[in-house]
Amino acid sequence: MKAHDDIKGIYASEIDYLVDGIKNGKSLYHTFCLSTLSGSFPEGRTVVLRDVKRDPLNIYFNADYRSKKVKELISNKNCTALFYDQSRRVQLRLRCQAVVHYKNNISSEIWKNTALQSRKCYMGPFPPSDELESWHPNIPDEYLKTDPDKEHSEEGYINFTHIELRVAEVDILQLRHDGHIRFKVSDDTLSYLAP
Ligand SMILES: Cc1cc2nc3c(=O)[nH]c(=O)nc-3n(C[C@H](O)[C@H](O)[C@H](O)COP(=O)(O)O)c2cc1C
Repeated sequence: MKAHDDIKGIYASEIDYLVDGIKNGKSLYHTFCLSTLSGSFPEGRTVVLRDVKRDPLNIYFNADYRSKKVKELISNKNCTALFYDQSRRVQLRLRCQAVVHYKNNISSEIWKNTALQSRKCYMGPFPPSDELESWHPNIPDEYLKTDPDKEHSEEGYINFTHIELRVAEVDILQLRHDGHIRFKVSDDTLSYLAP
């Protein structure tokens, strides 16, 4: 049987793809499914990958402090980030622990570099997932077609969080015609898993 012994190389290359996914909107790693625990029930949703740091591996996204996902991560920091690149047929499953950066020097640095167009998403009158009596896009009415000026946009900061996901274990599955490859990376140790 042909050995696939370059899993170290596959791992390094997948991290490069993740880094590319930060700015490259066409990358299938630009978004991922974040799963949290809501009581005893899992909850998944799509979020945008905003940053990646290597050694130790951390990934980052932004969210509204009032959202359910943030409440869930505060009450239980364990979560999973799931990526799938359909064009290369690679799935990454990251077991993570979340650190919620809210009104601290890290969130304020990220906020400074957040575009006005994105800032208005944090100015919504309703906490995300609130039940509404009628349709509302949850951004201030005056900014439906324009962006706020910098001064007014600062009002969004109170709802802004930058979330760090510290990756404890990576599970990589590469689908291949000549035999799928699956392995995990935990504490810098790589081990094969049955696909
Ligand atoms: C393509 C796409 C990207 C999204 N990116 C984010 C994001 O970066 N952060 C976020 O909080 N919600 C994002 N959302 C919205 C969430 O998927 C979700 O609907 C919303 O945040 C409410 O989730 P919650 O009630 O579980 O907190 C995105 C949705 C889509 C479809």
